Amino acid sequence: MNKIEQTLSIIKPDAVERNLTDEIKNFFINNKLKIKDSKKIHVTKDEAAEFYRVHQTKPFYNDLCSYLSSGPIVVMILEGDNAILLNRKLMGATDPKNAEENTIRKKYGISIDKNSVHGSDSIDNAKKEIKFFFKN
Ligand code: CDP
Ligand code: MG
Repeated sequence: MNKIEQTLSIIKPDAVERNLTDEIKNFFINNKLKIKDSKKIHVTKDEAAEFYRVHQTKPFYNDLCSYLSSGPIVVMILEGDNAILLNRKLMGATDPKNAEENTIRKKYGISIDKNSVHGSDSIDNAKKEIKFFFKN
């Protein structure tokens, strides 16, 4: 059954810095995800902290917020059939060492923190995260 969804994707600083933006965008497009909106931004550490608030109790929270705000990122709204799960599948496991073949993190991820992409993990979070970056 068709379930058209939208999800938030972020190309993280390590990937933007290595000029992987177009390659990653094309990977989404070639795998049935439409890019409905996209912008390159540079968030402050406070904004990163708000975005990643679900992780505030984790030991990696502070480094994660510093990292996301360390350079330009590309935030995108992806749309397609089962977009949330499909995007998670295309991203691969959080730690690139464990990521499946032909996933973004396997191909481009450097380490568990510099893992090139973010993707929403549920319908609720997708809505919240899209609103966070694309207030319209
Ligand atoms: O991004 P994903 O949903 O796969 O993983 P997460 O568990 O929601 O963690 C968010 C982000 O925190 C990850 O993408 C990693 O960049 C970072 N992280 C980390 O630096 N060290 C960990 N042990 C776990 C996650
Ligand atoms: Mg997550």
